[in-house]
Amino acid sequence: MRKNIVAGNWKMNCSLEEGQKLATEVSQLVLDLGQKDAEVILIPPFIHLSKLSEQMQSDGNFYLGAQNCHQNEHGAYTGEVSASMIKSCGGTHIIIGHSERREYFQESDALLAEKINSVLSNDMTPIFCCGERLESREVNTQEAVVGEQIRNALFHLSADQISKIVIAYEPVWAIGTGKTATAQQAQEMHAFIRSSITEKYTNEIANGISILYGGSVKPDNAKEIFSQDDVDGGLIGGASLKARDFMDIVKAFN
Ligand code: 13P
Repeated sequence: MRKNIVAGNWKMNCSLEEGQKLATEVSQLVLDLGQKDAEVILIPPFIHLSKLSEQMQSDGNFYLGAQNCHQNEHGAYTGEVSASMIKSCGGTHIIIGHSERREYFQESDALLAEKINSVLSNDMTPIFCCGERLESREVNTQEAVVGEQIRNALFHLSADQISKIVIAYEPVWAIGTGKTATAQQAQEMHAFIRSSITEKYTNEIANGISILYGGSVKPDNAKEIFSQDDVDGGLIGGASLKARDFMDIVKAFN
């Protein structure tokens, strides 16, 4: 069975001190909740990872991740960080292809495919983001756009490799805007993503992959979105910066 996952993408927020406080609060709330229905992943800025991994108490259901990585293992790439470095600091998951990376750093599908390879070759889990812009949604081409993103960045993988990834559908128009996709829009796209994977691989593989929804998920809409058949959790931005809100989203699985 595929896993339920709630991941908090902190983006470029939190000083070390703020991050430590937030992570301590969240990990304590996760332990208190004692819930085993969802994995919880905190995704802080790179530089906080090693401190946070030292301070985290985990009951085995709690992980740390990074927001990006370079496609190469090491070398003369000033300012960059590789998957193996992230692993050495306690990260187990890496977001690849967030729309903010695609938009502000011109990351192409071909580059994202290389990054996915690097994450997998380090035995880590990529959280691959896809999603259409408002212009596409308005002319109903969202499936064509997302289908192409997935084909270009993921369909070179072997069956074994693709089974190890997590996908996050994040419509660009819903990120940080307070405007979520309806539960039905999320379900339709998630079902489309799953059926594209079935067509290329197998039904069993497609059914084993967790597909998260991201874009203005809040405590008051999480339950409805997560209750959809093909929605296996969320990638949370703004609401992951408040321990209580984030935990209320995790509780949507209880
Ligand atoms: P918001 O939850 O702030 O809309 O951000 C979603 C997101 O981009 C998570 O990666």
